[in-house]
Amino acid sequence: MGKVFTLLVIVSVAIVAVFIGKRLGQPDEVLRVPEREWFGTGEERKDDTKIEPFTIAVPEETLKDLRRRLEQTRFFEPLEDAKNFQYGFNTNYLREVHKYWLTSYDWRRQEATLNSFKHFKTEIEGVKVHFIHAKPPAGKYKRVLPLLLVHGWPGSVYEFYKILPLLTDPLGSKFKPFGTTDVDFAFEVIAPSIPGYGWSEAPKKTGFGPIAAGRVFSKLMVRLGFQQFYCQGGDWGSIITTATAIIHPERVLGLHLNMFMASPASNPAIIVKMVVGSFLPSLAYDAGEAPKMGFGATFLNVIKESGYMHLQATKPDTVGFSLNDSPLGLAAYILEKFSSWTHPAYKELPDGGLTRQYTLDELLTNVMIYWTSGNIASSQRFYKECFADPNYEALDRAPVKVPVGAAAFPHELMEPQPKSIIRYKYHNLTRYTIMPRGGHFAAFEEPKLLATDLFAFVNDLHN
Ligand SMILES: *[C@@H]1O[C@H](CO)[C@@H](O)[C@H](O)[C@H]1NC(C)=O
Repeated sequence: MGKVFTLLVIVSVAIVAVFIGKRLGQPDEVLRVPEREWFGTGEERKDDTKIEPFTIAVPEETLKDLRRRLEQTRFFEPLEDAKNFQYGFNTNYLREVHKYWLTSYDWRRQEATLNSFKHFKTEIEGVKVHFIHAKPPAGKYKRVLPLLLVHGWPGSVYEFYKILPLLTDPLGSKFKPFGTTDVDFAFEVIAPSIPGYGWSEAPKKTGFGPIAAGRVFSKLMVRLGFQQFYCQGGDWGSIITTATAIIHPERVLGLHLNMFMASPASNPAIIVKMVVGSFLPSLAYDAGEAPKMGFGATFLNVIKESGYMHLQATKPDTVGFSLNDSPLGLAAYILEKFSSWTHPAYKELPDGGLTRQYTLDELLTNVMIYWTSGNIASSQRFYKECFADPNYEALDRAPVKVPVGAAAFPHELMEPQPKSIIRYKYHNLTRYTIMPRGGHFAAFEEPKLLATDLFAFVNDLHN
């Protein structure tokens, strides 16, 4: 099959070349974002701007229905000689997850944990937006800085449960981001669920992609009284907060990302650098920053790992239906990502390495958030809306002018781009850290490392 992959690589390179050629021949178009759109039911009306407290309380009926469905799971056998995750989630290990879910997993206990932070909802552009609002203890810190913290797919705000206490009360958590020096500031964190994810309502109309999310979250911050704030994000959270920083640079004091990409749309020099760099690294890159993976291998990796994305960017509702109907199917689909996106080598383990960084309780709680809110399909539509958005190309090429900190986790799904490349997109890169370990779900997996880098980034901007 090597030939097929070679062909795919050639086709991909050709597509990129055509794309670049097209871009080069066109004048820069400016990103124009409307002030407001309407994603609610029916005709546009005024938003109800009340901010209402919200408690997670899944009806008993939903839990009974879940049990019934789990008990009726129809399994199939993996291939005899495919003992790991090479064919996707191995069904041998899925049986263990199934057993744990039915016999040991306690949703009510998890629900109590989820409710340990304060949750709210408010309507923006016709959609009820859910968010966690976590504050430092009153009077304990000299400065309290507002932070918009945004998750991605297939995650949720639950990814932030371990990092939230570090951000809102580092002293109380005995967390010392600056070594022996005590921190004198803390973050007041607003962590919204992307509309269509978690407890945020799903948009009722087409067109809700990262640009709309970036605008809606900026409105959320202003509604809460924050005219200026910091942003942090990975996965969609990175693209959404980047959109916020482009649409409202006057509001974003600093943008910290644990996933980042400068596409050739932002500067054609990127593609030249990548191609030249794959033959003559020293010519294209600063010392020590050349990507480990060659150009061809990178494309191959993209093809191998991005099938889900193509599916979700084209026909999300078809696959969404099955996932919304089968809890174990949903768990397999979501948790396979927590395996290979945490470490690519975990594909070669019988259990996908899933419990090396996470517990089954944690993993299933993230799945439960999708299951009980019934929003897997709407979460997948976000891909379709992103790629269908006529404005997306303009977003992709628009420079980010606000100060940016980038935390490069080595086991990201795609090898993090070096500093000299992402500077083409993020013009004021004040911090770039190569992290010692960790993958895609940085906050969930390495909360201390991520929090340390965020504190350092913000501290540099302040002093
Ligand atoms: C980058 O941001 C920092 C912090 O706000 C600021 O001091 C500096 O002037 C900015 N640099 C550029 C080139 O905009």
